[in-house]
Amino acid sequence: MVTEILKIDAYAPDISKIKKASQIIKEGALVAFPTETVYGLGADALNPVACAKIFQAKKRPLEDPLIVHIADKQDLFKVAREVDKITLDLIGEFWPGPLTLVLKKQEAIPDIVTGGLDTVAVRMPNYKIALSLIKEAKTPVAAPSANLFGRPSPTSAQHVLEDLDGKIDLVIDGGSANIGVESTIVDLTREPFSILRPGGIGIEELRRIIPQIEFYKKDGILSAGMYPRHYAPNAKILIVEGNGKTQVEKVKDLAREFDLRGYRFGILAKFENKDRYGDFNVKLFGPGNDAVLCAANLFSALRDFDQDQVDVIIAEGVKEEGLGAAIMDRLRRASVVSEKDV
Ligand code: TXA
Ligand code: MG
Repeated sequence: MVTEILKIDAYAPDISKIKKASQIIKEGALVAFPTETVYGLGADALNPVACAKIFQAKKRPLEDPLIVHIADKQDLFKVAREVDKITLDLIGEFWPGPLTLVLKKQEAIPDIVTGGLDTVAVRMPNYKIALSLIKEAKTPVAAPSANLFGRPSPTSAQHVLEDLDGKIDLVIDGGSANIGVESTIVDLTREPFSILRPGGIGIEELRRIIPQIEFYKKDGILSAGMYPRHYAPNAKILIVEGNGKTQVEKVKDLAREFDLRGYRFGILAKFENKDRYGDFNVKLFGPGNDAVLCAANLFSALRDFDQDQVDVIIAEGVKEEGLGAAIMDRLRRASVVSEKDV
């Protein structure tokens, strides 16, 4: 299969191009498209055969369910049942946007989308191309991130092609996904309500609507029926937490040791530490006080280290507030060496 690349203006999408892409979805094939968080790999959510192709292309285990994307809040009722006031308050506040809600599913949603669960994850993305694609397809669109299973999520069409060229029908090149980490997933089917995956909306914001919400933890680990090792580049990641001088000194100690041992390594650093590591291979993700920028650059920095073929990435940790919680979650998951380590 040849993967076609279709360039579409993110701010003023050309409707004839959108129609072409949505036609592919309607025909039961796969289209990768940008959202405000990361690129998704879309298929008609009501067509089980089309959805099966997503699992095949990504090499994703069937028990890892997909997120269903809609373009109109009203369509929530076609996907989920038992929509209550809290749900409406949340979508009133955060949709369209990087918030995925887990709710009881409607009959029409095939088992392959939900991994056989009676619940469905649904969100309305805040990105023109995504919204008009879904609208034109006239069906909810199931879309996980458009990467091979376990790899860092793609924030550009180029990243999608690195993983899926020749395995999908079309990728829409609509520029860089602006948030850079995936949506926050909130489970509303079990009380107390909890955050299954930190993401684009911070816990602090969610607490305005659900004051008692917490991160869901099993054995101390954030868990969403998701896999511990995830979002991972080929290199091993070592996270150095903390900040300021102590953090920099720890990173330097590790770097010197790796250098002596002849390892190929890189340092993922905050802007303010840019000049602290001499000639070592340093990639910057953002200033420590700007989690938004750090999130936006995180996955592409990890992919860039893969291009350099480093064995180890020493990553400076960031403050776990707002998007910082999602960044640290992704770094920790990416740093798991094997599932036995957790
Ligand atoms: O920002 C995002 O959410 C992106 C863009 C493309 O929208 N999508 C995304 O999808 O990150 P994905 O497949 O990479 O992650 C979806 C996660 C899965 O790992 C799964 O565990 C969780 O959502 N999920 C889906 N359905 C669920 C359900 N019924 N119950 C609990 N978790 C669910
Ligand atoms: Mg993913």
